[in-house]
Formats: sequence, structure tokens, C-alpha cells
Amino acid sequence: MGPDTRARATSESPAGREQGQEYDASPYLPRRGGLAALRRASADCRGCPLFQDATQTVFGTGSPTARLFLVGEQPGDQEDRQGEPFVGPAGRLLRRALAEAGLGDEEVYVTNAVKHFKFTTAPRGKRRIHKAPSLREMSACRPWLAAELRLVSPRLVVVLGGTAGKALLGNSFRVGEERGILRPMPSLEEGEGEGGGLLLATVHPSAVLRADDREAAFRGLVADLSVAASALD
Ligand code: URA
Ligand code: SF4
Repeated sequence: MGPDTRARATSESPAGREQGQEYDASPYLPRRGGLAALRRASADCRGCPLFQDATQTVFGTGSPTARLFLVGEQPGDQEDRQGEPFVGPAGRLLRRALAEAGLGDEEVYVTNAVKHFKFTTAPRGKRRIHKAPSLREMSACRPWLAAELRLVSPRLVVVLGGTAGKALLGNSFRVGEERGILRPMPSLEEGEGEGGGLLLATVHPSAVLRADDREAAFRGLVADLSVAASALD
């Protein structure tokens, strides 16, 4: 990021912007460099108001040459504290599901559609409760995800849950209807059609943890990930 863009971005802090004005991470993205430069720059992103209450930016992590790229919604409480994606209960369940689907040894890159934790604080006590990001926040944060996808250039993107699905496939995406199906990966870059790779959506591991029948929900996640595994054979 050049010094002029930084000055412009901070003088227009998102908190002070009028309702309806665009949030956008683009001014904070470095013009060149790899994933390490991207990750460093993301620590200073002020592209939407979510940076204000969260502890830190939680950028993607994993192999820069991974064939399999996993996209969650946003960091949770543990991820916000530790600064790494999927290090809490949802991450543990995800790793178990990947292993059962035969992807335990596959190199992966793991990230989220939104890079800051959005939450409300419970009225009594200090427990922070996850809140779904808005469409504006998801669009604001999309340039980071687009850049990660361009640099990793995976064979297959697995979208975890409805929010990540909307971020990549548009707001009409419904995970219940579209899960488990291999499709061409759409490009997130302006003016481009398909990105070349494949995409498959499945449920979010947190939804499995909340399900009434957890075992059945887990089996469903593993079944979808097995379709993903077959695409990587
Ligand atoms: N849920 C997500 O979507 N992402 C994380 O990193 C953790 C939990
Ligand atoms: Fe930037 Fe995304 Fe964080 Fe908003 S959520 S401040 S766009 S990194």
C-alpha cells in the first residue's frame, strides 16, 4: 500500500461514513507480492467497521500450493484470540471430517469469507456470540479472498456453509439445495468468467455442532467432502 492510499483510507474511517456508502478492502491490498505480503497488509485493513471490535485480522493459512482451498464464514472467538482460522471446535470437527473423507493427508489452504470476528456480547457476562456478517461486509472483504484464490490457484474450492457460498456464488446461494455438487469455479475478479478450477459447497462445521442429529449431520459433511476427494484423485 502506498502512503497516499493509507492517508486517504484512515481519514475516511468506515465508522464515520454515511449509511449506504460502500465498504471496501481494495485500498488496503498490496499491489504486488505473495501471500506473506497479503497477510501482512491485511493486519491493517479498515475496509469495513468489523476491525473495530475484533482483536485482529484472521488471514488464511496453509500451503501456498494447495490443491484444496477451504472457505469458512468468519473467525470465531478462538480464531479471533489466536489469529488463525479454524483453531476452535469447528476446526477440530472439520479436520476429523476431512480425514474421514480421505483428505487427511491432502495439503490445504484454509481461509474465511470475512477476516474479522463479528459478535455481540451477552447481556450478562462477557461471552462473545457470533453474528453473521452482512452482505456489505462480505463484499468489502471479498478482495482479500479473491487475491488468496488467485495466488494459491487451487484445483478445488470447498465452500463451508451459506455465508461463504453467498460470498463466492452470489446472494441467492442456498447451501441446502446446492451442497455436494461439483461445479466450475466462478472468477472473483472483475470481467472474468470461470476461474478454471472446481467448486463444491457443503454445510459449515459449526452447523454440524448445532444440529439435533449431530451424527447424521457429520455423515452428510463427510459425504460431501468425499465428492471433493474424488475430484482430486
Ligand atoms: N468458523 C469459521 O467459519 N471460520 C473459522 O475460522 C472458525 C469458525
Ligand atoms: Fe477489512 Fe475484511 Fe476486516 Fe472488514 S472484515 S476490516 S474488509 S479485513
